[in-house]
Amino acid sequence: MRILAIESSCDETAVAVVEDGRNVLSDAIASQADMHALYGGVVPEIASRKHIEAIAGLADQALRQAGVTKEEIDAVAVTYAPGLIGALLVGVNFAKSAAFGLNVPLVPVHHVRGHIAANYIAHPELEPPFVCLCVSGGNTLIVDVQDYTRMEILGATRDDAAGECFDKVARVLGIGYPGGAPMDRLAQGGDCQKYPFPAVHVHDAPLDMSFSGLKTAAINMIHNAQQKGEELDLPSLAASFAAAVSDTLVPRTMEAARALGYGKVAVAGGVAANSRIRADLEAACGKSGDRLYLPPLSLCGDNGAMIGCQGYYEYLAGKRAGMDLNAYANRDIKKG
Ligand code: KG4
Repeated sequence: MRILAIESSCDETAVAVVEDGRNVLSDAIASQADMHALYGGVVPEIASRKHIEAIAGLADQALRQAGVTKEEIDAVAVTYAPGLIGALLVGVNFAKSAAFGLNVPLVPVHHVRGHIAANYIAHPELEPPFVCLCVSGGNTLIVDVQDYTRMEILGATRDDAAGECFDKVARVLGIGYPGGAPMDRLAQGGDCQKYPFPAVHVHDAPLDMSFSGLKTAAINMIHNAQQKGEELDLPSLAASFAAAVSDTLVPRTMEAARALGYGKVAVAGGVAANSRIRADLEAACGKSGDRLYLPPLSLCGDNGAMIGCQGYYEYLAGKRAGMDLNAYANRDIKKG
């Protein structure tokens, strides 16, 4: 079964052709990051316009690269939530037109479920159940992946997403947008114990997280130093910050893994590319005996292949949308 998959939830337009869930025939992506870098963050209106400009050409490119004609497409899958509403609507409307024109089913896909599915592409042997740490620019969740389409949230951020914190601190340091990868590079060789950051615990919800205090602490530290004319050891600041984020994410993920006892831990989303978080998870799983599934860096960020993969499993579970499909800025992963 061949699925044409469409992703436009943030600042990447992506269209892929995926066969039987895990065989990626093509994965065309147009990033708008350079455009938004001018403003230090995603400008939603610009994102929507850029998606409109890119999406039809990308769909042609994805079909061409896959060596597949439109008539050989069996279903269209699309990210419909969560994300920037205007950006999502571009993908949803394009997908509706494609499904209608080709007379094939339309399958709505939850963006974070798509990120989790990136692991199925990278690891053909991986099957649920497992615990997945989902960390991106807009989401931070610890998910009990009971089956391909049955999931429970075990823990979530109460405020900012982990990726957003990397981006905001990077912006104050003036090292680029999106800031996660430059922060990661800056942290190499830094002393991760030099700058202590607060550790937050949510009362009565041990797997929930909070990152806004951590972000504010880092930004205040930078501003204070600037005002006093003091020089900060920036690699050590970045390394200490990454360690604090990782110390929030990794022990909670491992606690969830221990409680559920599946023996399998996966990571998903743009922040899953972070070298400190990957290393800490490797060490923790080495100790606990859990098998760790890390997606390759190419599948951590937004892409269409992951939507085609999850779309396949949603299709098998009977999920369909009509021409009245809407987009949603927020949507519970449990509802899908
Ligand atoms: O999954 P993604 O591409 O988009 C969303 O669905 O949000 O994630 C983007 C986020 C950005 O916040 C970016 O700064 C972060 O992933 N990111 C990283 C790294 N690479 C990307 N954060 C930390 N370390 C990295 N190496």
